[in-house]
Amino acid sequence: MSTHKEFTKVTTKALQLMKAKNKKISALTAYDYTTANLVDSAGIDLILVGDSVSNVFQGNDTTLPVTLDEMIYHTKAVAKGINRAMLVVDMPFMTYETNMDEAFRNAGRILKETHAGAVKLEGGERMAETINKITGYGIPVMGHIGLVPQSIHKFGSYKARGTNEEEANEILKDAKILEEAGVFALVIEKVPAELAKNITESINIPTIGIGAGPFCDGQILVINDMLGLSTDFNPRFVRRYNNLADHISSAVKSYIEDVRSSSFPNESESY
Ligand code: KIV
Repeated sequence: MSTHKEFTKVTTKALQLMKAKNKKISALTAYDYTTANLVDSAGIDLILVGDSVSNVFQGNDTTLPVTLDEMIYHTKAVAKGINRAMLVVDMPFMTYETNMDEAFRNAGRILKETHAGAVKLEGGERMAETINKITGYGIPVMGHIGLVPQSIHKFGSYKARGTNEEEANEILKDAKILEEAGVFALVIEKVPAELAKNITESINIPTIGIGAGPFCDGQILVINDMLGLSTDFNPRFVRRYNNLADHISSAVKSYIEDVRSSSFPNESESY
């Protein structure tokens, strides 16, 4: 396993250096202390408390319902499990779009009440002024372009974005505008690999891809997907590194059997 051991704590500067040195950035989501601790100890560079918590933890169809208080609650738990990774938190839907002061206040709340080092928010050009304000006050912001799940009701599907020239040019333009606005890194979700490559080569900040091909500076996946905990979400960009759903189901069935047959607890498991 290779981790970038030269960094005892991953910061925005460290991520920038990794891009400059052509070292790929590994990132995963986490929503609780135990998982965050395992992922951090394994050597991950960046942990995102994603608003995907709405889907995989809360059981919602979209990322829209999760609240700022809930994101802060999960982040406090995750932060306690992390020693090395950079911790980034998604700003939930409707906590940064309506006005810049509210966005700044909410981003500030996240950093003040958790141990996160940065926030992430979705959107291109329309978010530039807000990002400029938040970063101007010393709060690092990660951008998120391409497929932006908080806009699901505008697009009506989770299909890949930037598949035609006009949309691809718009996404590339957004990337450049966000860099100019001050984001320290950019998540690029579900766009053609060639577009992600073009963006990665056109900007000086790290790109972190999800469903965006191999040419980004780093990759991120939702932990539940890559561990095979979620069984009903199978897009082609998810590589499953385990099948935890089956392992858990089989362990729980064995436990039920042992309880029903009175073979658990045995003598050595009793006092
Ligand atoms: O919410 C999330 O998990 C994300 C990642 C998919 C990048 O935004």
